[in-house]
Amino acid sequence: MKRMLRLALTLCLLASAGHCAAQAIVRKSFARAERQTALLDSLLTAPDLFPASWNPDGTIKTNTARGWISGFFPADIWLLYEYTRDAKWLDMARRRTAPLDALRHYTKTHDLGFMVGCPCSLAYRLTRDDYYKQLMIDSSEALISRFDPAVGLIRSWNNKDGKANPFRVIIDNMMNLEMLFLASEFTGDSRYRDIAVTHADNTLKNHFRADNSCFHILCYDAGTGSVVTQKGGQGYSQTSAWSRGQSWGLYGFTMCYRFTHDRRYLDRAVKSAEYFINHPNLPEDKVPYWDYYAPGIPDEPRDASAAAITASALLELARYVPEKEKLYYKTAEKILRSLASDRYLIPAGEKNGFLIDHSVGSKPSKSQVDVPIIYGDYYFLEALLRLKNYKSHK
Ligand code: GLY
Repeated sequence: MKRMLRLALTLCLLASAGHCAAQAIVRKSFARAERQTALLDSLLTAPDLFPASWNPDGTIKTNTARGWISGFFPADIWLLYEYTRDAKWLDMARRRTAPLDALRHYTKTHDLGFMVGCPCSLAYRLTRDDYYKQLMIDSSEALISRFDPAVGLIRSWNNKDGKANPFRVIIDNMMNLEMLFLASEFTGDSRYRDIAVTHADNTLKNHFRADNSCFHILCYDAGTGSVVTQKGGQGYSQTSAWSRGQSWGLYGFTMCYRFTHDRRYLDRAVKSAEYFINHPNLPEDKVPYWDYYAPGIPDEPRDASAAAITASALLELARYVPEKEKLYYKTAEKILRSLASDRYLIPAGEKNGFLIDHSVGSKPSKSQVDVPIIYGDYYFLEALLRLKNYKSHK
């Protein structure tokens, strides 16, 4: 009996040691995030520009509200407010979110979920200010204008010549569905949700390969709705596996399961999780190379943003899959421990206030390679908050 008690006590101590270690990563990273965000805000004096990434010449690459990354810096600040409840972050978050109002009726992008949904869903949850809710509803209306019922998908990019074909759809687009699910919850109007489900169903049907990886870009025929060709996009090739794309797929279908409880979405997310966890080219620290089949592995840049997105997704998926909960939680924790290490976490005061280093925007376009990128910071902070609040469901 005594031995049993000692064993139980040891297990309990070990469990709480693990918990304490995880909380230490969260505290350290958020303390750094506060310093870095204050710096980035002070350097970025233009009120209506948004930080995208760090240029090797030491300047900040910025976008207007119309750049797909515009929502992430405001969203970072909302996460800081959620963590600290300090009014200074609330004021800054409101100020940095305000220029996104320009997107309310903007129909030329499929990325409105990233641009408006990410910051405004946090803003609404934390303030209950209807302004943010309405901005998401209006932006959802703009987003569904890109849905084509004949194809059953939301169009990603417009063609420069204005032609209907090719009708391109990228895996990233799964992430924009979250705002549509929310818009239906806010309004009771099922159109947004129905479109999100149709888009997810067709992505499920067409975007994944037998080995459980996914393509970046599919080109559909706008007339028939059938797939014409696949493209490598930001990945190495048509047959390789672009790391961030795999993360978008994992996160996107986990999120779709949250709103629908459709087992097919959960199964898809689990397969994507297994792809990540078991991949022979995944490095020991679990921060993937920018493509799982980049030709120069192990001398290829990592993509810390893909790791951060994956960690955040795994911490949600862990709650839905009891038999894999421990594996997913531990994998996410390991990723976050790596990102919080000196290899990735940017020293206070450096790189203009970005938080994590070594992400890749698009290697084929030689754009933003091995630099800090704002969405890496956002998903890192989101994942840390999920880790902080994690309660085992066993
Ligand atoms: N959504 C574009 C990217 O992930 O780079």
